[in-house]
Amino acid sequence: MRAAQPALFSALVMIPAIPVFGDAPTFYKNILPILQNRCLACHRPGEAAPMPLRTFAETRPWAKAIRQAVVTKKMPPWFADPHFGKFRNDLSMTAEEIATVVAWVDAGSPEGSPKDAPPPALFAEGWRISQPDVVFEMPETFSVPATGTVDYQNFTVPTRFSEDRWMEMAEVRPSNRAVVHHAIVMVSDGPGSWRGARQYLAGYAPGMSPQTWPAGQARLIRAGSTLTFQMHYTANGKPGLDRTRIGLVFSKERPQKQVLAMTAAHYGLSIPANAPNYTVDSAAGIYEDAELVGMRAHMHLRGKSFEFRVVLPNGESQVALRIPKYSFEWQPYYYLDKPIPLPAGSRIECTAVYDNSKNNPWNPDPNSPVFWGEQSWEEMMIGWFDIAVPIKDTAPAPTGHAQPRRNPATTPAAPARAGSAPKARFP
Ligand code: HEC
Repeated sequence: MRAAQPALFSALVMIPAIPVFGDAPTFYKNILPILQNRCLACHRPGEAAPMPLRTFAETRPWAKAIRQAVVTKKMPPWFADPHFGKFRNDLSMTAEEIATVVAWVDAGSPEGSPKDAPPPALFAEGWRISQPDVVFEMPETFSVPATGTVDYQNFTVPTRFSEDRWMEMAEVRPSNRAVVHHAIVMVSDGPGSWRGARQYLAGYAPGMSPQTWPAGQARLIRAGSTLTFQMHYTANGKPGLDRTRIGLVFSKERPQKQVLAMTAAHYGLSIPANAPNYTVDSAAGIYEDAELVGMRAHMHLRGKSFEFRVVLPNGESQVALRIPKYSFEWQPYYYLDKPIPLPAGSRIECTAVYDNSKNNPWNPDPNSPVFWGEQSWEEMMIGWFDIAVPIKDTAPAPTGHAQPRRNPATTPAAPARAGSAPKARFP
């Protein structure tokens, strides 16, 4: 009989791509550590996922669904094409982790001994970032009607910061996700509500990750700045109340690099009815030496795919992020593992593809042409990206305008602006 020995032999000589379990993996020993690292950010009370997965009792009824979700890579949600770029917030599981989950479910999801459990995962209650140093909320609760179109709502909150503050994490949290289409918090460095250079600070969209910057990089909020919550609510058939908040974690040390939010957008969108593969481009120029640290794509329900490229001054082009299957439900930030240098004169180029055909299950109306607009049944094309620039000690830190001044000399493909002819093509 060929029993234990060959198995032992193969385990010793082969370097297994998947783990070899003498005994079946157990919940406490093998599964809980994976859940803590990969799932609990969302699968705990108060977060976006429908069911918590903190304990054996909570997880066991979902075992088969979990197996299915991890094998098909539906969970954890992650949409970047793995051939391009490495991301420090990549949620995807390793082949070994997937194999462990499969082996556990196939063995009947054994519980094992609580003695093998890892230390409990620590999360700040009510936040995905660590415990915020300061929280600002909308000054009043907004009441969303059951039906109809709700215009953008703006709410202004003074920070009352008496000195400039550097920030290493930011998270915008609706109190009622069911009615919030998206939220943008802008910062203006004047005391007046809409005065001063307004800049995008942080935002919320479905499936969006909180904003976090690695050690040494930070966003600046000037003393006396004001925050504006720009809220886009969507009526969903039931009236709802919302009071969105933003939590900020301050940098513990003075950073070396300032992070600025920029966009490459194509405002002149005009997507023909029934077009299955409508493609548009956008670009933004970089005017001083910087590095690319993160990206996020924003389209609405016709969005199909999105790509970011870095184009160096010598014309060399590199894909920084490709999202082959865009989903409005999932708009995470993609933070690069290693920032990509952007010497002055570089460009960020984006390409977006839309499916306005009836084959797109999310399409509210394939027979209508679609234009740029705020509502979900209209469209947008925005490549958000964060760059980091060195902070010069001698000069005051830069104010960080959302779009650095444009220099046509270095940017032949300047970002499209409202009213400009759409630069679209049919493949
Ligand atoms: C970024 C947040 C997030 C992370 C991380 C995440 N989930 Fe989810 N999960 C969700 C949301 C939101 C839903 C409900 C919407 C959906 O099904 O798309 C969901 C749904 C599910 C479902 C139900 C799927 C179905 O087909 O109905 C399973 C099972 C699941 N998650 C398992 C996991 C496991 C296991 C992990 C970790 C390995 C994980 N999820 C990580 C947010 C997350």
